[in-house]
Amino acid sequence: MCGIVGFVQQKNVADNFPLEVCLHGLKRLEYRGYDSAGVALAGSAGFATDAQLENTIAIPGFKTQVRKKAGRLDNLEEEIRQHPTLPASVAIAHTRWATHGKPNDINAHPHVSNDNRIALIHNGIIENANSLRDELESEGINFSSSTDTEVAAHLLRRELGRIEAESAAEAKYTCDLTEAMRRIAVLFSGTFTLLAIDALNPEVVVGARHDSPLVVGVGDGMNFLGSDVAAFIEYTNQAIALGQDQIVTITPESIDIIDFDGVPQIGEKFEVNWDAALASKGGYRTFMEKEIREEPRAIADTLLGRIDPSTKRLKLDEMNVDEETFAQNMRKIDKIIIVACGTASYAGFVTKYAIEHWCRIPVEVELAHEFRYRDPIVNAKSLVISISQSGETMDTIMAVRHAKEQGAQTISICNSQGAALPRESDATLYTHAGPEVAVASTKAFVAQITASYIIGLYLASIRGNMYNDEVQNVLDELDEIPEKVQMLVDQFDSITRLADYYSDVESVLFLGRHVGYPVALEGALKLKELAYIHAEGFAAGELKHGPIALIQEDLPVFVILPPLDRPELHSKVISNIQEVKARGARVFAIAEEGDTTAIEHADIVFKRPKCPSLLAPLLDVVPLQIFAYALATAKGLDVDQPRNLAKSVTVE
Ligand code: F6R
Repeated sequence: MCGIVGFVQQKNVADNFPLEVCLHGLKRLEYRGYDSAGVALAGSAGFATDAQLENTIAIPGFKTQVRKKAGRLDNLEEEIRQHPTLPASVAIAHTRWATHGKPNDINAHPHVSNDNRIALIHNGIIENANSLRDELESEGINFSSSTDTEVAAHLLRRELGRIEAESAAEAKYTCDLTEAMRRIAVLFSGTFTLLAIDALNPEVVVGARHDSPLVVGVGDGMNFLGSDVAAFIEYTNQAIALGQDQIVTITPESIDIIDFDGVPQIGEKFEVNWDAALASKGGYRTFMEKEIREEPRAIADTLLGRIDPSTKRLKLDEMNVDEETFAQNMRKIDKIIIVACGTASYAGFVTKYAIEHWCRIPVEVELAHEFRYRDPIVNAKSLVISISQSGETMDTIMAVRHAKEQGAQTISICNSQGAALPRESDATLYTHAGPEVAVASTKAFVAQITASYIIGLYLASIRGNMYNDEVQNVLDELDEIPEKVQMLVDQFDSITRLADYYSDVESVLFLGRHVGYPVALEGALKLKELAYIHAEGFAAGELKHGPIALIQEDLPVFVILPPLDRPELHSKVISNIQEVKARGARVFAIAEEGDTTAIEHADIVFKRPKCPSLLAPLLDVVPLQIFAYALATAKGLDVDQPRNLAKSVTVE
């Protein structure tokens, strides 16, 4: 949801670098929320001398400099142009997806203590904010916003004062922002990442995380914090993942981590395997266009290096349990449940068909937010596969936790290094799609299907459902997919011209059967979220059970036709085309090359290169994504940041 940046560098009075780091970081994190943006800086003009620090508990005039503005980052940049900030040594910055309080200037983060000494930003929801607010107000604290976050800013200031009073009584100065953060973190229920700076100690940024993302970037004479590595990728690719319920304190030379009990912890270091260029538009008009065009590579990279050349065994990336024990457990499982949300859940839905076919194990696909509240039947013989681009979707994380509590085995499929989901799963397979910046998911979808298929083949091989050469055959077919996807991507401009022509439509339907059904659901979702058009996906066989009532003259209906080697499915979908055509619909079919029946019945046919039916979704989704993209563009909409959405849904 919200995007968070923190930065500290050695004292450098004539430098605006902290502001630059924050604005660049916010630009890269804007996909997490774009209701408002803000920055707080301290240092330089706010520096207290050592002598002052020795003698004082509060120095009037040492304040954080805060600039914040509702709306997109451009508004904040304009505000800073009009009211420039002073050079600084520490900074925090925030881009908001509003939960508590309207998206206006006042509710924008950072929030400050009444004396402006503390500035704080927050991602998440503090559920007990109201009672804490009452308590603070009764102590005379003034609130200016209606956010839950402001409570944390005032509490932090109160706690800091208490710590200073304690140490003043012992006649020694202390400025322990870390301890103050630790004391307030344990007061909150809900989810949070908090970052704070103290104008009197502008050499430290302190962060706390509970069920919300936070990653450290390791620099030279400077250090960074971010909701994800995109926040600092321009400056360093060395990162540290934090665990649950931890406090991190960064100074220019040090990174210290403790848990909420104050016990020192060691973070997990990793090197980010992509660079800033990959997270930029690279000459394309939008991130989404770039990301759709990157789909062949996302699939190819996700397949790369998955087979151990010596053993011919498929390799999983991260194993948080012993590999042999894990493999033994995989042989015992009698049910698979795939948990995910949105587009990732449709990738899971596609996978169900393949895994059941290859492994002969029942596979359920469940929306993560529905899973844990319905008391699902899960035990040590269940495998729960979670799919998430961000690895931070709270509903998915909670579903995995619930499954683990019931003794289930867990594998996650994730695209983001340093995210929470891999740490909480027994094993992880990363999708190597590279950073996905556009809010609506495109290349992650095809990479998720690819990774799920790798897991399906791994299970089939270790459980003895498929011989090695059968697995190899599927892998060979998968190897050909990127080139075939490229052929569809190459139709970008022609699909765009078609979409231009339909920019006034008010409703579009999508029909598919077998693996084409989840693709139809995904096609409808893309159109809804990008072009704000009513769109629905149906199982083609369901048409006569109700949805056919929606068909009217000129209604666009996309139909995903199964390959010709599935004649039993193909003929039924052709019948569906005839049924909607008879009622005046305009049919856009996605059909295999050489499918003359499709050409005969549909108004327009997007040709799909030949491939086995289980792999066809990797191709079929591409024209649907391009169509939704192009329609939204034709309507003049912001395809990278559609209204009301945020890329990482880190609250339940
Ligand atoms: C739709 C979209 C969302 C995400 C969903 C899960 O285009 O992007 O539906 O797929 O919010 O997000 P992740 O994969 O990060 O768990």
